[in-house]
Amino acid sequence: MNSFLSMKDMSNTEIHRLIKRANEIQKKGYKPFEKQYFAANLFFEPSTRTKMSFVVAERKLGMEVLDFTAEFSSILKGESLYDTARMFESIGANLIVLRHQQENIAKELSESIHIPVINAGDGTGEHPTQCLLDLVTIYQEFGHFNGLNVVIAGDIKHSRVARSNAYALSQLGCNVYVSGNPEWRDDRLDYEMITMDEAVEVADVLMLLRIQHERHNQHEDIQVDSYLQNYGLTKQREKRMKQHAIVLHPAPVNRGVEIDTELVECKRSRIFKQMENGVAARMAVIESTLRGGAVHENNLNKRSA
Ligand code: CP
Repeated sequence: MNSFLSMKDMSNTEIHRLIKRANEIQKKGYKPFEKQYFAANLFFEPSTRTKMSFVVAERKLGMEVLDFTAEFSSILKGESLYDTARMFESIGANLIVLRHQQENIAKELSESIHIPVINAGDGTGEHPTQCLLDLVTIYQEFGHFNGLNVVIAGDIKHSRVARSNAYALSQLGCNVYVSGNPEWRDDRLDYEMITMDEAVEVADVLMLLRIQHERHNQHEDIQVDSYLQNYGLTKQREKRMKQHAIVLHPAPVNRGVEIDTELVECKRSRIFKQMENGVAARMAVIESTLRGGAVHENNLNKRSA
C-alpha cells in the first residue's frame, strides 16, 4: 500500500489484513519505527477524534508529528494546498494526513507529490480510516461480515462516512440498507431504503450518522426537534433491536437528535469503542503506508542517500 485514499481502492484481502493488524496491535503490542519518520497532519476542516487519534497513533509508532493549523499558516497569505504539501515534503515529511472540505482532493494531491497521503476525510467524498475503525469494531463483535444486516441511518447525502462504509461493507458481504429523511438520500448509494422502525428490527449493526449542518444549504429546513422521533434512535426503538445488535456513530454525536442522549453509552453502543479502535486502525494504516509502498520506499531511499 502507498497512499490510503478510498475504500474503493481496497480489496477484501487488504481490508482483512489491516483489521487483523489493528487487532494484533491492541492485543500483542507493536514496535515503534526504528527510522525517524515525520508526519504532517494537514487539517483544513475541524476535527477532534481523527486528528487526535492520528497524533496518538503517530507518537505510539515513534514518529515526529508536524502539527499544522490552517488558520495560522501561510494558507492565509494565499499559499495553495499543493505548495503547502510540497513544502512539508521538502523539509522531510514522510507522510501527509489530509482533511479537507474538497471531495477527491487527497487523491489529486497524492498524484502530484512524492510522499504518501492518507485521506482523513475529503468533503462529502470518503473517510476511509473512519471506515476501517468501524470495520474493526464490527469484526471484533461478530468475527465476520458475511450476511450481516447493516443499516446506515441519517444524513446519507452529506456523509463521507456513509460512502466509505457502504462501499466496503457491501464488498465484504454485508446486506447494506439506508434509512433517514428521503431528501438526504444519495443516488450514489443505491441501497434499499427502510424506515427507522424497520431498521431497528432488521439491523445487526445500526450505524447512525451525524447531521452535517455545515454542509447543508443555509435555507435547508432541518426539523431538529422532530428528527429523533422521525429518523433517530429513541429509547422505545432501541428496545425492539435484536439482542446482539450494536449501535455505531462516528461522532461527534448530536445528542437527542440522531440518538436519545441516554443511549449514547447504552449496553449496545460501541461509540467510544470506535474511538478506542481508531488509534490501532490508524497505526495499522500508517505502518502499511510507510512499510508497504514501493514508490515510497524509493522515495525514502533517495532521501537517506
Ligand atoms: N468521526 C470524525 O471524523 O470525527 P472528527 O470530525 O472529530 O474527526
